[in-house]
Parts: sequence; structure tokens; C-alpha cells
Amino acid sequence: MAEAPHVSIAAIARDLPEYMDKEVTLKGWLYNKRSSGKIHFLQLRDGTNTLQCVMLKNEENLEVFKAAKKLPQESSLIVRGKVQKDDRSSLGFELSVTELQIVQKAEEYPISPKEHGVAFLMDHRHLWLRSKRQHAIARIRHTIIKAIRDYFDNNDFVLVDAPVFTPNACEGTTNLFEVDYYDDKAYLTQSGQLYMEAAAMAHGKAYCFGPAFRAEKSKTRRHLTEFWMVEPEVAYLDLEGDMDLAEDFLCYIVEKVLEKHVDELETLGRNVEALRKVQKPFPRISHAEAVKLINEAIDNGTADTRSAGAESMESAEGGEEDGQNQVTPSRAQENDDFGAAEETVLSRLFDRPVMVHRYPYQVKAFYMKRDPEDAERALCVDVLAPEGYGEIVGGGQREDDLDTLLGRIDAHDLPREAFQWFTDLRRYGSVPHAGFGLGVERTVAWICGLHHVRETIPFPRMLERLSP
Ligand code: 4AD
Ligand code: MG
Repeated sequence: MAEAPHVSIAAIARDLPEYMDKEVTLKGWLYNKRSSGKIHFLQLRDGTNTLQCVMLKNEENLEVFKAAKKLPQESSLIVRGKVQKDDRSSLGFELSVTELQIVQKAEEYPISPKEHGVAFLMDHRHLWLRSKRQHAIARIRHTIIKAIRDYFDNNDFVLVDAPVFTPNACEGTTNLFEVDYYDDKAYLTQSGQLYMEAAAMAHGKAYCFGPAFRAEKSKTRRHLTEFWMVEPEVAYLDLEGDMDLAEDFLCYIVEKVLEKHVDELETLGRNVEALRKVQKPFPRISHAEAVKLINEAIDNGTADTRSAGAESMESAEGGEEDGQNQVTPSRAQENDDFGAAEETVLSRLFDRPVMVHRYPYQVKAFYMKRDPEDAERALCVDVLAPEGYGEIVGGGQREDDLDTLLGRIDAHDLPREAFQWFTDLRRYGSVPHAGFGLGVERTVAWICGLHHVRETIPFPRMLERLSP
């Protein structure tokens, strides 16, 4: 097989005229096959795409032709052949096989085209990654992550990595993962924010991007125990500026996915038109206004209670097992955070992300700045993705006054010693500053139109899942 160059299916598709009627070598796995007497139609998957390879029986290939008939799905193959025009293929070509080499005849593959339950697929996640839907999701996740990095890199932010072992809590003490750190206690990071505040005072604009850990005690469609978060932080930025940044950033991510992945979005059954509506300006409403909107919708019976991704649940692999396509909202409260169901109802009222600002001060994290115009409110914002997805971004303006911050640390029962370094930032050149955190998995779920975050990360970690 030496003379024909090894190329990928994607590379051929990109430069089809150059390869037309030429011989190439493809290396991959058998995705599917169909045979009729003297002809095999082998669907070859090479990681970049899937291609129909047509093999005709002849005098020279009798043995391998016979062997190919019995090949189980996912057997590894090297195929040589001629690229030929095929108008029925979405790629516009197929391969007419001249030589087939079986690298390994696979064992009977456990994931067949018939429906499997979610638990079975999750147990076989290491293999499930090969299927078309999971392949599409992984590619879109990749593009989202690249867009995140490009956005900040192109806008003068400096990447500053935050530690994973931390001496203190950042987002409340109820969901901390504690680890033994020699003779001390440490916690896996819940957020890099506090470190980014230090970085913003050094660089003006900084961001970190890494895993965050939260010992979530409930099973929901949007909680992982290990998830990826990007956290920009900017000196001399207020809440309005923070919302401008989040809006511009989200538009950029969606635009990049639409530029590259309409095919993958269609594979997922995603409503692409809904994504095209993600344009500035996003509505900005206060928490108090949001409470009114939710309660009006509940009271007059117009609340859209379909859970996120309910539209595509039937076409999803794994069917509807553990799928909940309805939520049951209760009336929202002026002085409380929203429950997931209330967020769903609210986010179904808008055709693009909605930014909800000024939540009640008392229910929010210790570092949030109080609204100088309304002592009951914090200068914070959550961005809720539309179509029922709910919160994908949380952030806001930080408390920059030393004494107020110390008071908040005490009020939240946090140990002052652990925050000594953090409060130093308010001693030496404190300035107004703001930032936010975007959860990658929730963003992928929304953009891909998936019901559950478990499919958005290669190997999800959840309350009841630590393997594979
Ligand atoms: O709203 P959160 O808790 O905000 C923070 O951690 C801030 N310190 C961020 C900052 O201002 N720098 O989390 C931010 C985002 C959420 O909006 C959500 O997208 C995601 O992180 N997130 C989770 N994603 C998956 N599983 C979980 N358990 C998550 N918890 C938060
Ligand atoms: Mg939040």
C-alpha cells in the first residue's frame, strides 16, 4: 500500500478536485456495512468523517473479500482505493476499493444501532465517544473552547492559571471537596475567581480556564461534580461593563460555532435558526422584574414548562430514560434565588440569552458588592440561556472596600486567616472590578440543544458516576 498517500476523509473533502479519480489510503474503523453477493458497501470511519467504500469481488481479492463479510463493527481497517464522484453522498464522493487490509477483527461491538439505555451508554462512554452524535458534540465543544481562548487572547486578557488545591472556599461551604494535604486540609477549587482578582490587579485584564469541583448532592440535568469554567476578571470595570463583556463574548462563541458546525448541529437535530437569533443586545432585567415575569406566567397559565432540550429528547441516543421533559415551577420570591424550574420558565420567555442582575444581597456569595442604590441588592448578574437552559454565566462587581469585605467574611462564617491574602488586595490599591464565570458544559448543552450536561464532557463526573 505504499504508493497511495495516507489522507483523511476530511482532507479529501476539503480539496476534492485535487483528489478526484486518484488513489488514496484511508486508515480507520468499520462503522457499518451492507453486502450483496459480489459487492460490499463498507462505511469507513477515520475520525474525521465517515465514507462509503465500495468493494467488488474479483479474482485477486477472494480471501479478503470473504473475511470482510464477517467483520464486526469497529474492526480496524486500512483501505486503498480511488476517489470517485458520488452525487448521493453528502460528501460528493466515495471510494472504490482496490485493496483492503484488516488491522484487527474486532470482537462483537457492544453498542449496536438499536437503542440502548443511558446507563448502558454511560458505562461504555469510552466506546460511545465514537458514535456520530457524540463525535459531533466533541467537535463543537472543541470549537467553543477555542473560541473562548481566542476571544480573551484577542482582547488583551492575560491567561493566569489558578491553583486546584485551595486553602479556602469561594462559593459557599456546602459543596466543598476536602482532601488531605499532608497534615492539613485543602479543598479542590470551586472557582478561580479570588486568584483572578489578584491577577486583574497585576495585569488589568486576566482570565483562568480550568476544572472546578463541587460536591453537588443532587442529580440534575445541569450539575457535574467536575466541570470546566472560564473566568475573566477586569480592573476598573463595573456591573454594566461586565454585562457588556459577557454579551459580546457569548455572541462571539455562538458565531464561531455557526461558522464551522452547521452539519454537526443538524446531526444533533439542533434548531439552528434559534441560535442565529443570539445577537446583541441581550435583554437586561433586574431580579425583581424577573420575579414578576415568572409569577405572571405561572398565574395566567402561560408558563412554558418544557425542560431544556425537551424538543430533541426523542431523537437523542438513549431515548428518554432519566429525561424529564417538564418542570414544575413554584412562584418566584423577591428575596430568594430562583430554583431551576423558575429559571427554565424565565429563559423560555426570551429568544436570546437574558441577563438578570441585582439578586438579593443576602442569598449571594460573600465577595459581591452591595448596590449603593438599594441595600437589599447585590451588583451581580446571571446570564440565562434561552429555550429553557437557564444559568450559564454567573458574575458581577466585587466588594472593593476592606472593612465591608471583612464584615462579609465574618457574616458568612468564613475564617479570616484563610482570606488574609485576598483582603490584601483591598489594602494595596483597591479599585472597582468585576468578572464572571462561564460553565463550559452548560454552554455546550445549550448550543448543541442537549437535555443533559452528561453528554457535553468526554468523561462526566457526577454524584453517581466516577467511571469510566
Ligand atoms: O455561578 P457560579 O457558582 O459562579 C462562580 O463560581 C463565580 N466565582 C464565577 C466568577 O465570577 N468568576 O458558577 C459559574 C458558572 C455557572 O453559571 C455554571 O455555568 C457553571 O459555572 N457551574 C456548573 N456547571 C456544571 N456543574 C456544576 N455543578 C456547576 N456549578 C456552576
Ligand atoms: Mg451561579
